[in-house]
Amino acid sequence: MLLVDIEFCDFHDLNDIYSIEKEAHINPWPYDVFETDLKYRSSSIFYLGARWRGKLCGFGVCRQEGRALKIMNLAVLPEFRRHKVASQLLLAMGEVGLELACRKVLLEVRVTNRPAITLYEQFGFKKLRVLSRYYEDGEDAYLMTSPLPFPGVKAEESVDA
Ligand SMILES: CC(C)(COP(=O)(O)OP(=O)(O)OC[C@H]1O[C@@H](n2cnc3c(N)ncnc32)[C@H](O)[C@@H]1OP(=O)(O)O)[C@@H](O)C(=O)NCCC(=O)NCCS
Repeated sequence: MLLVDIEFCDFHDLNDIYSIEKEAHINPWPYDVFETDLKYRSSSIFYLGARWRGKLCGFGVCRQEGRALKIMNLAVLPEFRRHKVASQLLLAMGEVGLELACRKVLLEVRVTNRPAITLYEQFGFKKLRVLSRYYEDGEDAYLMTSPLPFPGVKAEESVDA
């Protein structure tokens, strides 16, 4: 495990976030989505970054939707994967959700994205249903959900512990 610093991102992180995004996703979000989010900072959208020795190596984006927290994005640089960076980002997003009094977490994931599905299942996420042709390229998504606090996480793994 690589113990990373998790912090809220700001506009200065824009280019690093976009570099990670391009490396991580088949259909990356457009640059201007990140630019707008980080510039205008909605009170319901949160960008968290994982930093190792000062370098941004992963990020997560979540949005409050009433009593639910929606995970919109999660990505880690290829050379930093399998070191629990995404796990630490997920834990931190869960803490944000708890602070906002959210009771559950929702996300969509490509049905072929085994690494991400395995990660989410470890946190207690279950598949709720298939969203047919959810992605631009026609691939289906699983809508997954987990209660908060994450049932798959022991108390001593919590970021506060
Ligand atoms: C999915 C992703 C975020 C995981 O990041 P990560 O930092 O490597 O994940 P972690 O190290 O925290 O993984 C925790 C556990 O998830 C599972 N997992 C993660 N990557 C896996 C892989 N490639 N194959 C199988 N299981 C995997 C493992 O059980 C892993 O624990 P282990 O390494 O002790 O076996 C990363 O692979 C990524 O950025 N992928 C591209 C973007 C993406 O798919 N994002 C999710 C969109 S919904």
